[in-house]
Amino acid sequence: VEQRILGRTGRQVGVIGLGAWQLGADWGEVAEDDALATLAAAVDAGVNFIDTADVYGDGRSERLIGSFLRQRPDAGLTVATKMGRRVAQDPAHYTLDNFRAWTDRSRENLGVPTLDLVQLHCPPTPVYSIDRVFDDLDTLIQEGRIASYGVSVETCAEALTAIARPGVATVQIILNMLRLKPLDEVLPAARAAGVGIIARVPLASGLLSGRYDEHTTFPENDHRNYNRHGEAFDVGETFSGVDFATGLAVVRRLVPLVPAGVTTAQLALRWIVDQPGVSVVIPGARSPEQARSNAEAADWDPLSPVELATVRQTYDELIRPLVHDRW
Ligand SMILES: NC(=O)c1ccc[n+]([C@@H]2O[C@H](COP(=O)([O-])OP(=O)(O)OC[C@H]3O[C@@H](n4cnc5c(N)ncnc54)[C@H](OP(=O)(O)O)[C@@H]3O)[C@@H](O)[C@H]2O)c1
Repeated sequence: VEQRILGRTGRQVGVIGLGAWQLGADWGEVAEDDALATLAAAVDAGVNFIDTADVYGDGRSERLIGSFLRQRPDAGLTVATKMGRRVAQDPAHYTLDNFRAWTDRSRENLGVPTLDLVQLHCPPTPVYSIDRVFDDLDTLIQEGRIASYGVSVETCAEALTAIARPGVATVQIILNMLRLKPLDEVLPAARAAGVGIIARVPLASGLLSGRYDEHTTFPENDHRNYNRHGEAFDVGETFSGVDFATGLAVVRRLVPLVPAGVTTAQLALRWIVDQPGVSVVIPGARSPEQARSNAEAADWDPLSPVELATVRQTYDELIRPLVHDRW
């Protein structure tokens, strides 16, 4: 797996990582053994970057990763976690005392003295403009609680505000074939500033795997069932904010591009890997097979100019009017 520098963390990470939201099992089921097997499969396939959060399964995802780190202390992993969404979303909660308590809990869950990277977890927009918040994050570094910090954002505007802060090492943002807006300004700005880009929801919650059709259903406790209209959190996190029927129409146009021997999911990941400025892509694998297949995407050829043009044209015709001005 190709290695890239993860922004101002200065660390080298493989360009395909692993998202670990699903390992929290607060949407859909992932048994503990399956979660550990998925982590092992990813790492054995060359993955060395894992993204989690304190809120995923209220710590379950972090604790499973912690167990894995104890099993494989020499795996050379970089683990990014997030904080801030275990309390009501109020800028007043973004205090040094809370940061200390939240990172201490994550250090304990992960079993590490210093967190490699902690990200503010899609905080309320005003938080990006509070200088004191970023001073407090600098304090966490001085105290040895964290090595670096970044932000996970909902909008391109939030990303640009964060990139302008000198201490922000990384920005995590939705980027996939249904979410092209970050290519306009965010990726160029991040490259110019040396800020890492962590591309999340790369398969548009699985839509871009090409496995779903009009008859596909999701379990009751799966956000792809209960958050289709943003009932629980930002609707952009579910199918990238695209309604399911339109998403299927897009995938039907993209499937003919998929070369023999490659899966639709691998093509979707490869497309993100090739966007200048991307540091790491974090698909959420639910099984060892998915983890292995995702890691392989880093080895495929880049998309041809014709394929790239089809992705752009499909976006412009079907998706841009729905989402481009939203995030
Ligand atoms: N606010 C935030 O900061 C935030 C929000 C969302 C996500 N994230 C991060 O981003 C990561 C990824 O997001 P995500 O899991 O929501 O979306 P995603 O990676 O776009 O989609 C994950 C889904 O894609 C399917 N899939 C994965 N690998 C596959 C493969 N090889 N072949 C076929 N299907 C495959 C699985 O669907 P099935 O379940 O149908 O098998 C899986 O549940 C999360 O784990 C988390 O780390 C962060």
